[in-house]
Amino acid sequence: MTEPARKHAPAVMALDAEAAVRRSVVGGSIVDLIGGTPLIRLRNLEPRAGVEIWAKAEFCNPGGSVKDRPALQMIRDGIADGRLTHQKTIIDSTSGNTGVAYSMVGAALGYRVALVMPENVSAARKQITQAYGTELIFSSNMEGSDGAIRMVRELVAKNPELYFYPVQYSNDSNWRAHYLGTGAEILERLGDRITHFIAGIGTTGTIMGTGRRLKEARRDIQVVALEPEDALHGLEGLKHMASSIIPGIWKPEDCVDRVLPMPTEEAWDVAERVAHEEGLFVGHSAGASVAGALRLAREVPADREACIVTLLPDRGDRYFTPLKWEKHYEW
Ligand SMILES: Cc1ncc(COP(=O)(O)O)c(C=O)c1O
Repeated sequence: MTEPARKHAPAVMALDAEAAVRRSVVGGSIVDLIGGTPLIRLRNLEPRAGVEIWAKAEFCNPGGSVKDRPALQMIRDGIADGRLTHQKTIIDSTSGNTGVAYSMVGAALGYRVALVMPENVSAARKQITQAYGTELIFSSNMEGSDGAIRMVRELVAKNPELYFYPVQYSNDSNWRAHYLGTGAEILERLGDRITHFIAGIGTTGTIMGTGRRLKEARRDIQVVALEPEDALHGLEGLKHMASSIIPGIWKPEDCVDRVLPMPTEEAWDVAERVAHEEGLFVGHSAGASVAGALRLAREVPADREACIVTLLPDRGDRYFTPLKWEKHYEW
């Protein structure tokens, strides 16, 4: 069997008892373990010496994705200013990572959670959130995610006293989670060395919060937002802005230098390379982020060095159908 070619030998660290103890983290609740994710160097993908690529491993959040951060921040801020009480149910229209994050945080903090989603969402999506005790409300198959949004708005308008509806697309707590967390954590580790930050845009919370924090520290850091090239794409979690409802928190003039369009095929190919060459089995939006980082890396003039930072929002296994997770009693 031939060994795969490696540009750089991966750093092998001794897994001694001392290192294991150092890595162990204590949390009073699962929500205390949100954030503080590892930064991993993608050494094997770097195109040449002097151009570093680092990725923030957001799949290491306990709910499995970057969305744990904004879900917790929106819920915490709602509790702090009295909009969320234990008499209310947290409600939103999402079947993706945010739904999992609300479900996990709600369960841990003792709040009921209800999610509105089209009936034809995959069984896996339904089962993951239901496993946390979340109530699912189904909207019409025919109306897609817009139908789910309309339905949640109607439910909240009819009985506002029953619900806390965070509306992640226009909630400042969304980007603040990344301003206070993601951006600060990246600065703490890589500080003066960062030349670029690139991340995909969905609600735009990640890029707006991290971008603002990085620009505040150093105006010359290039902040690049990544969007799917076409309206019809296969990059779950990302939005093609020209054909979407623009999120209220999207203010690119504040901190975004460039928007880079990414073809689905390139993102999927790079996701595969990230698994094969770095041992990181990531989702397709993470593939898009790394593909974008590689493009930026190739643009760096030969006589310059660069330190490009990106983000891996979730893991590839989120897109598998899990084994059946149902309770059966047999007598
Ligand atoms: C897998 C994945 N990638 C990227 C994003 C985009 O992040 P943001 O909403 O902060 O722009 C999301 C958001 O839901 C996501 O689920």
